[in-house]
Formats: sequence, C-alpha cells, structure tokens
Amino acid sequence: MQKILVVDDVEVNRELLRYILEDDYIIEMAADGEEAMQKLQGSLNETSAILLDLQMPKVDGFAMIEALRERGWMQRFPVLVISGEYSIDVETRCLELGVSDFIHKPFGSSVVKNRIKNAMDLFFTRNRLERKVEEQAEALKEQYEIIQIQSEKLRQEKSFNRLMMEYRSAIMEVETRLKVLNEEFSQEFNRNPFEAIKSRLKSPASIFEKLERKGYPVTLESIRENLTDVAGLRVICSFPDDIYRLADLLTKQDDIVIVREKDYIRNPKSNGYRSLHFILSVPIFLSNEKKYMNAEVQFRTIAMDFWASLEHKLKYKKDVDSADEIVGMLKDCADSIEALDYQMQEIRNKIDRSRQ
Ligand code: GTP
Ligand code: MG
Repeated sequence: MQKILVVDDVEVNRELLRYILEDDYIIEMAADGEEAMQKLQGSLNETSAILLDLQMPKVDGFAMIEALRERGWMQRFPVLVISGEYSIDVETRCLELGVSDFIHKPFGSSVVKNRIKNAMDLFFTRNRLERKVEEQAEALKEQYEIIQIQSEKLRQEKSFNRLMMEYRSAIMEVETRLKVLNEEFSQEFNRNPFEAIKSRLKSPASIFEKLERKGYPVTLESIRENLTDVAGLRVICSFPDDIYRLADLLTKQDDIVIVREKDYIRNPKSNGYRSLHFILSVPIFLSNEKKYMNAEVQFRTIAMDFWASLEHKLKYKKDVDSADEIVGMLKDCADSIEALDYQMQEIRNKIDRSRQ
C-alpha cells in the first residue's frame, strides 16, 4: 500500500481523511508544516502523496510548499491542497507553485478518493515518461558519441589511405627513375644495370606492430616521422659494381636526399648479410604540392638476394633443429657467395675487355 501524509491542524479533518482513505492507503498525519517536514525526512522514499491544508499555525501550507520546492521534493510525489479558502487567487497560486490539485472543503469522500487517485496516476505516469525520455536522450547521446568516434576513425582511415597513396607514389617515383637509368644503359652500353626491382608497401598491421614495438605513438604523424621503411624497394643487380654505379646515379639526382646509408657490402653483418641500404627522401608531385617521402632502397646482387631470403626464413624459425649449425652453414655460404660475386664480375670484365 502507498503511504499518504495528511497535514492539517484540525484533528477532526485529519481523522475524517484517514477514515476515507485508510482502506486503500497507509495514512501518516501531521498537525502543521514543521511536523510534516520532520516526518517526511524519515519516510521520503515511502511517501506517495501529501494532502495539505493551507491555514495552519507555525509553518502553514504555503511555507511547507516553499520548503518542499527548496529541497526538490515536489518532484518526488504529488501534493494536493485541501482548503476552505475559496479565492481563485489562492488556488491559482497553489497550482502555479506545482501543486497537483486543489480540493475544496467541505469535501465528499468519493471526490477526495478519486482526485487523489487521479493526481497520483498522473504524477507517476508523467515521472515515468520523463525518466524514459531522459533514458532515451542518454541512449541517443551515447549513439551520437559512437557515431562521432566511428566517423573520426573513418576520417583517420581516409588520411591513412592518403598517406599510403603518397608512399606508393614514392615507390613509383624511385622505380621510374631506376627504369629510366636502365633504359639508358641498355641503349648506350648494351647491358642492364639491374635484373629486377621488387617493391612493397608495408602493411597496416606491420606498420602498427612496428610503432608499438618501438614505443612510438600510433598516429599518422608518427608514421611519417618514425618509420623510414613504409615504402620499400629492392634492386637486384647482377654484379657488385653495378650496385655502386646505379646507387650513385640514383642518389646523385639533384632532388633526392640521402637520409641514411648502411653499406653491408663493405661491412657485412656478422651473420654474413650483405646489401647496400639507403633511406632516401624523394619528392612526389601531387596536384597542389611537392612532398618529400622516405623510401628504403636495398641494393643486392642476385646471389646476395638468394642468400638473404634463405636466411630470412631461418629468422622466423628460431626453433628449428640444429639452428646453430645452420647459422654456421649460412655464414659459410655468405663467404662463398661473396667470392662467387667477384669471380663472376671478373669474368664479365674479361669478356668486356676482349670485346673492345
Ligand atoms: P629494421 O627496423 O629491421 O628495418 O632495421 P633497421 O632500421 O636497423 O635497418 P637495416 O638497414 O639494418 O635493415 C633494414 C632491412 O634490411 C630489414 O628490414 C631487412 O629487410 C633487411 N635486413 C637487415 N639485416 C638483415 C639480415 O641480417 N638478414 C636479412 N635476411 N635481412 C636483413
Ligand atoms: Mg625495415
């Protein structure tokens, strides 16, 4: 049963209301506003309505309404005024202050019962609706935020795709310049300085993996600043001296900047790895700007490439049996391959000289 607080200074009125309502509600009573507020303190959550007289000693009905409003309690339950005052002004003032209904004394029992029931139904239905609207507004806000995040992701993805396009353009740029040199060489000297160019754009997964592994932030600026091998080219030459000649011709082009050079041919790695590495900064020409992009270019002979791909496989299979033995064999192979590279080059030189 719901609890109703009856506030009236005349005992007969209180008892009459109790008599009318006690079959349907639990009735709590107070003789003035002060007592009523004290009783409310302890039973705020259980109270479902207040029936309030206006004229009372100490704290009267209006003062009590004021106190309820101050505490925000008018939103918790309907307040119905039961008063003998017949002025329209008083009634209007009460309703304007948020009172749910105004019942005139003397009252009939069925009128009181029905108006209390209606006031409570209306009040709690409205509260429920308001809560629903609030919940829906909250849900909408969340959805809006999700959409914001998704569109931001999409936007970032778009600029990520743009960045990848720029790196692809850098690959094309370097590739074209190398092919131009190749064309010229085959015309002028009847030989090709390289056998093949392999290129690759680092995959998004491996870009993010490398950023994470090296502790760099995962942002587009960070990719630009911290990764130099998103655009990668491998130039496979027949002979070691072609490598240096070609690398020299490419890196001397007046709009290409060498960011870093590692010569693992003159200074092979301890495992036997040999290749000539450059990080180059190359211009790409877009519709409204000229932009410099980093590209990693590795120059190798066919033999060095053969060795490196075999050794690469071993790196990803650390748990193979007799790994130490394989490392040793690979080192031996690297030495043999180096010797082979120079022997072949020597043979080519001899042939060239005999032709002249
Ligand atoms: P990464 O962060 O691994 O790219 O190395 P790095 O930035 O120190 O540059 P480095 O010039 O040493 O190596 C660049 C690339 O050359 C590597 O990503 C490999 O593709 C290749 N490379 C370097 N060392 C080896 C090696 O010992 N074996 C093989 N197979 N490839 C290597
Ligand atoms: Mg690398």
